[in-house]
Amino acid sequence: MMTYDLNDKVVLITGAAGGIGAATARELYARGASLVLTDMQQTAVDTLAAEFTPSRVLPVALDVTDAAATKAVVQQTIQRFGRLDVVFANAGISWRSGASTITNCDEAEFEKIVEVDLLGVWRTVRAALPEIIRNKGQVLVTSSAYAFLNGMANAPYAASKAGVEMLTRCLRAEFAYTGATASVVYPGWTATAIAKVAFGGNATVTKMNEVGFPGWLRRAIPPEQVARAVAKGMQYRRPRIYAPWRWVPFSLFRGLFGVLTDAMLSRHREMHALIQQLEAESKHG
Ligand SMILES: NC(=O)c1ccc[n+]([C@@H]2O[C@H](COP(=O)([O-])OP(=O)(O)OC[C@H]3O[C@@H](n4cnc5c(N)ncnc54)[C@H](O)[C@@H]3O)[C@@H](O)[C@H]2O)c1
Repeated sequence: MMTYDLNDKVVLITGAAGGIGAATARELYARGASLVLTDMQQTAVDTLAAEFTPSRVLPVALDVTDAAATKAVVQQTIQRFGRLDVVFANAGISWRSGASTITNCDEAEFEKIVEVDLLGVWRTVRAALPEIIRNKGQVLVTSSAYAFLNGMANAPYAASKAGVEMLTRCLRAEFAYTGATASVVYPGWTATAIAKVAFGGNATVTKMNEVGFPGWLRRAIPPEQVARAVAKGMQYRRPRIYAPWRWVPFSLFRGLFGVLTDAMLSRHREMHALIQQLEAESKHG
């Protein structure tokens, strides 16, 4: 099977200044790709871009919820590099602080998470599609193990991650005839800013994590491990890219696993007490 050579390919990354985005940028650059680095703050992408040869990098501020701005960045990419081969729709957010349940979360914050994590991905992918198809390139979308885990206390995030997983599967099937491909990236817990809440950032959420998962499963991996998996997945145009591999059986047997864990969670007294504690700590609605 012919592998996809990243040398001289142009890759646009959203959320590039974050943990997984920056690690992936470095990995792809080392494999010869030119990069369009986008994130909320220009200074953040400028700092990352300073690590690379100027002729192979374009740092641009981009909020992925802005559909027009996303299309403009694709045009800027074409003006600068003449093409766009790969889009990595990776930007994501979770609760600003702590965590909330569906019952007592702030409504605007719930919808903002869905706007970034689901609609932001759709807007990024849609803007890039004409170029990706023209170049028989690739779409990569960062989903999460939350696409197949019960996402309690993280509902807008988990719902969005399940949503982008399906969006990507649909896309892969719909444009298979063009020669382009789409891949879902499933990171498990990774040591970046977004995951801090579950690793000491919030005591109740950390406790829920400890009660809900065995230690070997919830151990966070470095973002570089996700980056290597993404680069390898791109090379083989894999439909599913997991990091770490320990999540693979849970994804593959998600039907049975979901039935069992949902039943367990509905009877788990200690977890119910923690949920109540969380609600008491973060009263909104
Ligand atoms: N860290 C984990 O445990 C983990 C696990 C599974 C999936 N993920 C996903 O990986 C992706 C990258 O996250 P990370 O772990 O590197 O976290 P991170 O917080 O370090 O990076 C996220 C980046 O997205 C950017 N961003 C946020 N809102 C944006 C917007 N509207 N427009 C553009 N950029 C925006 C942030 O500025 C930040 O740089 C996210 O989609 C996240 O949901 C992370």
